[in-house]
Amino acid sequence: MTNIEEIKLAAGILRKGGLVAFPTETVYGLGANALDPIAVARIFAAKERPSFDPLIVHVASADDLEQLTSQTTDLARQLAARFWPGPLTLVLPKSSRVPDIVTSGLPTVAVRIPDHRVALELIQTAGCPIAAPSANKFGHLSPVTAAHVRKQLPDIDYVLDGGKTSVGIESTIVSLEGNACTLLRPGKITLQDIETAFPGVFELQDGKTEKIVAPGLLKSHYSPTKPLHLYDRQQPELPPASGVILHGHADHEPECRRIIYTSYNQNYLETAAHLFSSLHAMEDDPGIRQIFIEPVEEHGVGRAIMDRINKAVYQYRKEA
Ligand code: TXA
Ligand code: MG
Repeated sequence: MTNIEEIKLAAGILRKGGLVAFPTETVYGLGANALDPIAVARIFAAKERPSFDPLIVHVASADDLEQLTSQTTDLARQLAARFWPGPLTLVLPKSSRVPDIVTSGLPTVAVRIPDHRVALELIQTAGCPIAAPSANKFGHLSPVTAAHVRKQLPDIDYVLDGGKTSVGIESTIVSLEGNACTLLRPGKITLQDIETAFPGVFELQDGKTEKIVAPGLLKSHYSPTKPLHLYDRQQPELPPASGVILHGHADHEPECRRIIYTSYNQNYLETAAHLFSSLHAMEDDPGIRQIFIEPVEEHGVGRAIMDRINKAVYQYRKEA
């Protein structure tokens, strides 16, 4: 486990403009000093990420919101107070302190406080906000362990190892304008959770139905390096060397090389937590040539899980 010496070392690297991968409660992030545009440019280079895809800025205290955003409203402060530290990212008008490279030139900035001791100590020790996308090559599987980070990004300056992340999928992203709160990326925190916490306060909009997309959210994303297809339990036969990912008990297990259960009883929080690690395990298994994954129902966190699964299978669709 990460000790304070490692955190001090990593914070020093960040202050000098280097890149540090660190655990959050969602996935591992690839961090740089958010106020140093050259350091942030290194993130885009290391990830091979297109410059139109803006980054999330991680802070350790809600007071830092004032530094990074302009026109911070009471409603934004209330949402932050209720859900931070936690897997909710708020998109708000940015202040002039945030370099344009962080936001891909947008007038807004995405901010969150991660709910992870190592991440919080790192931000505090570095003394600067940390811009961090997920620590994977652009379009590939998100990392939920330090080993996953090293697999895809072997050349970055430092990886802080905080064990496996607990939530397992990226934060929910909402943009705020007045009392309009628009879902840009589904995650563990749902619009329903926001409505339950603040009944009638926000005008909730689902970005999907409103056809509002956050920049960088493409149809194909989060993909393993081996073909991935949706799996139907009625499917009679699978090709040789198949791996199957299931989310609940199966009376009759499919005949295949390997099965991984993300949950034995369709507990979607468990499935989210093990989604990327099960895909990484199949990707890393030399005996597996193609992967099949069961869909889940799109309620609660199932919505976010299906968002990741649909994007992961997209490039391998038969008609693609
Ligand atoms: O859980 C997470 O959010 C993880 C951890 C490391 O915090 N981070 C993460 O970052 O998932 P990334 O880069 O993989 O996804 C960030 C997404 C962008 O692709 C973009 O869609 C959205 O956040 N985003 C960032 N800034 C935005 C802005 N100003 N307006 C709209 N969307 C924005
Ligand atoms: Mg990502």
